[in-house]
Amino acid sequence: MNRLILAVLFAVLYQVLAVPLYTEEDEYHFKSWMSQYNKKYEINEFYQRLQIFLENKKRIDQHNEGNHKFSMGLNQFSDMTFAEFKKTYLLTEPQNCSATRGNHVSSNGLYPDAIDWRTKGHYITDVKNQGPCGSCWTFSTTGCLESVTAIATGKLLQLAEQQLIDCAGDFDNHGCNGGLPSHAFEYIMYNKGLMTEDDYPYQAKGGQCRFKPQLAAAFVKEVVNITKYDEMGMVDAVARLNPVSFAYEVTSDFMHYKDGIYTSTECHNTTDMVNHAVLAVGYAEENGTPYWIVKNSWGTNWGIKGYFYIERGKNMCGLAACSSYPIPLV
Ligand SMILES: *[C@@H]1O[C@H](CO)[C@@H](O)[C@H](O)[C@H]1NC(C)=O
Ligand SMILES: *[C@@H]1O[C@H](CO)[C@@H](O)[C@H](O)[C@H]1NC(C)=O
Ligand SMILES: *[C@@H]1O[C@H](CO)[C@@H](O)[C@H](O)[C@H]1NC(C)=O
Repeated sequence: MNRLILAVLFAVLYQVLAVPLYTEEDEYHFKSWMSQYNKKYEINEFYQRLQIFLENKKRIDQHNEGNHKFSMGLNQFSDMTFAEFKKTYLLTEPQNCSATRGNHVSSNGLYPDAIDWRTKGHYITDVKNQGPCGSCWTFSTTGCLESVTAIATGKLLQLAEQQLIDCAGDFDNHGCNGGLPSHAFEYIMYNKGLMTEDDYPYQAKGGQCRFKPQLAAAFVKEVVNITKYDEMGMVDAVARLNPVSFAYEVTSDFMHYKDGIYTSTECHNTTDMVNHAVLAVGYAEENGTPYWIVKNSWGTNWGIKGYFYIERGKNMCGLAACSSYPIPLV
C-alpha cells in the first residue's frame, strides 16, 4: 500500500479510536526527542511510539511536580513501555544469589561520612553502554575488577564484557539473558584471566568464546561475597577497600531516573527479585538522606552522566541482597 495512504489511515485511526489525542506540540516534542536520540521508525511504529512516549512524558511531568527526592526525565528509553524495557535490558529470571554467609570481614571501624572512588585516583573507567542486551552483570563485573586492579597496581585497564557474555556460561551465567557478578568473578578466577576491551570488543550479543589465555590482562585471586542484606558490610568494603558490585530490583520508575536520590515504594527488597547489576563507587549524605553513588551501564546520557544515587541504609530495592567484589591477583 502507498505509504502516504497508510500514514493517513493510521493518523485517522488514532484520532477516531480515541486513543488519547495528541497535539502538534506533543508531536513536536516527540520529533525533537527522536532527533536527539537518533531514532527512526516506520510510519505505523511512529504513532505507536509517539503514544508510549506521551504516556512516559506524562508520568515524568507528574512525578516532577510532586515532592520527591529524585527527578525524572526523558532519556533513550522514553519510547518504550516498561515491559519492553525489562525484556531488553534487565535480568528476567530469578538469580541464584545465595550468600547467606559471606566471606567479607568487616572492621569495627569508624567510616568517613563520604567517599568517592572517582576522585580518589584513576580507578574508575568511563561509563559504558550495554545496549540492547541483558549484560548489566558483565559491566558490574568489569567495573569492579577494573577498579580493584587499578587500586592494586596503579594501572587502569578497560576489561572485556564480551568475554564474560561468550565464555562464562558454566558459572550460571547466561550472556545477554543475565548473570551475576559473583559468578563472573568465579569464572575469571577459574578461567585464569579476563582480556581487555580492545582485544575482545563488545558486541551486545552472544557469540562463540574467543578467549586467548596469552592475552589475559586481569586476574582474580579470591571472590568475596558480602552476606545478604548486610548493607553495613557494603559500607565497610567501599569505605576501606574498593568499589563493590551489587544487584537490585529496577522497577518502572527507575527507567526515567534523571537525578537526585532514588527511593521507591514500587520495588521489592529480596534476593529473588533483583534484576539489574551495577557498581557502588562511593557514598555520601544529603539533607539527612544517606545514599550510594552508583555507576550504571546505560551510557552517559542516562541519569547523572551515567551515574545515579540511591538511598542507603534501608536495603532499598534489595541493593544489599547480593553484593560482592574480587581480590585481584597481581
Ligand atoms: C539457578 O540454579 C538452578 C539450579 O542450579 C539452575 O537450574 C537455574 O538455571 C539457575 N538460575 C539462573 C538464573 O542462573
Ligand atoms: C558467592 O556467592 C555466590 C552466589 O552469588 C556463590 O555461588 C559463591 O559460591 C559464593 N562464593 C563464596 C566464596 O562464598
Ligand atoms: C523488606 O521490606 C519490608 C517492608 O518494608 C521489611 O519489613 C523487611 O525487613 C525488608 N527485608 C529486608 C531483607 O530488607
